[in-house]
Amino acid sequence: MTTNPNDISSNTIDDSSAQKIPETKITVRDLNLYYGDNHALHNIDMDIYKNKITALIGPSGCGKSTFLRCLNRMNDLINSVRVDGEVFIDNKNIYDKDVDEVSVRKRVGMVFQQPNPFPKSIYDNVSYAPLKHGFVKKGNSCNELVEKSLIQAGLWEEVKDKLSQPGTSLSGGQQQRLCIARTIAVQPDIILMDEPTSALDPISTEKIEALMLELKEKYAIITVTHNMQQAGRVADYTAFFHMGDLIEYADTETIFINPGKKKTEDYITGRYG
Ligand SMILES: Nc1ncnc2c1ncn2[C@@H]1O[C@H](COP(=O)(O)OP(=O)(O)OP(=O)(O)O)[C@@H](O)[C@H]1O
Ligand SMILES: [Mg+2]
Repeated sequence: MTTNPNDISSNTIDDSSAQKIPETKITVRDLNLYYGDNHALHNIDMDIYKNKITALIGPSGCGKSTFLRCLNRMNDLINSVRVDGEVFIDNKNIYDKDVDEVSVRKRVGMVFQQPNPFPKSIYDNVSYAPLKHGFVKKGNSCNELVEKSLIQAGLWEEVKDKLSQPGTSLSGGQQQRLCIARTIAVQPDIILMDEPTSALDPISTEKIEALMLELKEKYAIITVTHNMQQAGRVADYTAFFHMGDLIEYADTETIFINPGKKKTEDYITGRYG
């Protein structure tokens, strides 16, 4: 199955089309994942691009979160999991024996469905990991990093006068932006988002979507969504999963307007899922 949206079968590429090929950040090859006997992901091949938003869609239980967690080795934390295959980030397989999974999780940040700030102040939520990993020392450089991360997450103006208050005192939408600030603060290359707005009101959702569009200038973003309109609004590429298979992966317009597979069409037209 061709799963590279820019796969070019001809050897003759003219310059104008070559320029449109985005830079690959993640290359997934023949990825299989088992939870015990449950074969949850089947032979996934996928290239994911820098400075793009890639949406993962598909019915509940099809493997979207499982796939996302393969990209930062978070599934390693689950006892029954076995992963086969390769996930290259910048041409290095993150499943190679010499790769430290903690360092992978620093480079590949993750934002979850439920905002989950630490039970700490707003300031400490953002500064905790950079201080722990020695990226900054307490004092000015740390203050600057906290401010920069909160600005980038579109939250600074709302919290700059109450940085010592608990992160949990913020609204749900603000907490989610705090979690994004916390993710950005360790300067990842890639941000994974698992239904980041599904617990939020429409205005907060709009803010997070606007933020995603800004953040893609610096990062590769992979997001899971059940909201087809959201995928249409933010995603450059969309991947449709069904029962552990990657059925179709293409630019978002193709997936929604002219899908190549009947299963994709049935799903996006609401026939199941
Ligand atoms: N921690 C786990 N332990 C065992 N099996 C799991 C675990 N997490 C997911 N699974 C199984 O893997 C399959 C894919 O689940 P996954 O959570 O990745 O789906 P999803 O597409 O994210 O669904 P949803 O849209 O409901 O979030 C399901 O069969 C699920 O039961
Ligand atoms: Mg999920």
